[in-house]
Amino acid sequence: MNNNQPIGIFDSGIGGTSIWKAIHELLPNEQTIYLADSKNAPYGQKTKAEIIALSMKNTEYLLTLGCKLIVVACNTATTNAIKELREKYKIPFIGIEPAIKPAALHSKTQTIGILATQGTLNSELFNKTVEMYHDTKIIEQIGHGLVQLIESGNMNSPEMTQLLNEYLQPMINANIDYLVLGCSHYPYLIPQIKKILPSHIQIIDSGEAVAKQTQNVLNEKVGLSNLEKSFPIFYTNTDPKVLDDILENRYGIIQTAF
Ligand code: DGL
Repeated sequence: MNNNQPIGIFDSGIGGTSIWKAIHELLPNEQTIYLADSKNAPYGQKTKAEIIALSMKNTEYLLTLGCKLIVVACNTATTNAIKELREKYKIPFIGIEPAIKPAALHSKTQTIGILATQGTLNSELFNKTVEMYHDTKIIEQIGHGLVQLIESGNMNSPEMTQLLNEYLQPMINANIDYLVLGCSHYPYLIPQIKKILPSHIQIIDSGEAVAKQTQNVLNEKVGLSNLEKSFPIFYTNTDPKVLDDILENRYGIIQTAF
């Protein structure tokens, strides 16, 4: 394994760029390759078998590009497929899971909310985590429609505001003091979510934790690269505009079939 090989990051679409940003900030010398499988988004309503197959396809594409480690920047793919990925491929995988632990440990009302996809909330991995915090009341809400609106470039639409209100109001009424964002697309909705939630409710996502974990694994298993400058590369299998917009048109996007 060569230390200068890139880190591969994939998601069902553009949302995982929220995780890419955290990694790029913490490890600016690492070369990163981001893969947006927007053509197959959303993963959230697919079967476990479909999610595993797509995750393997993304992994194999990143392996052909020489990645030394892969970050699964998608809660749905992590909770449904990371075990199978780790069994099949030799390189290290970092996954992202909803941050139930810090929310449950810090909650004073012992009531927290989680917004995630159906695939994540129904997964065995997620439900095992929930069982560990049975003293905390966890209000689960599927974010129906949110990923589709983000992927179609309608993040700031009135429809989005309406859906967020519908999903968050019952959590506010139930007295949550933490809201866990269990989908890597949702950090982009934080400005809108903040307009709905009372200010005492904390919002948690897993971006920083994933970046730290990536750093740890690189140190332990792979070794940090010595590149002086990082050259992020972004691939998508649909119209590159939405990915380009979410990255504020700062990087080149490569459109390719995978
Ligand atoms: N961004 C993904 C996640 O973290 C999946 C969204 C989807 O494709 O449904 O769960």
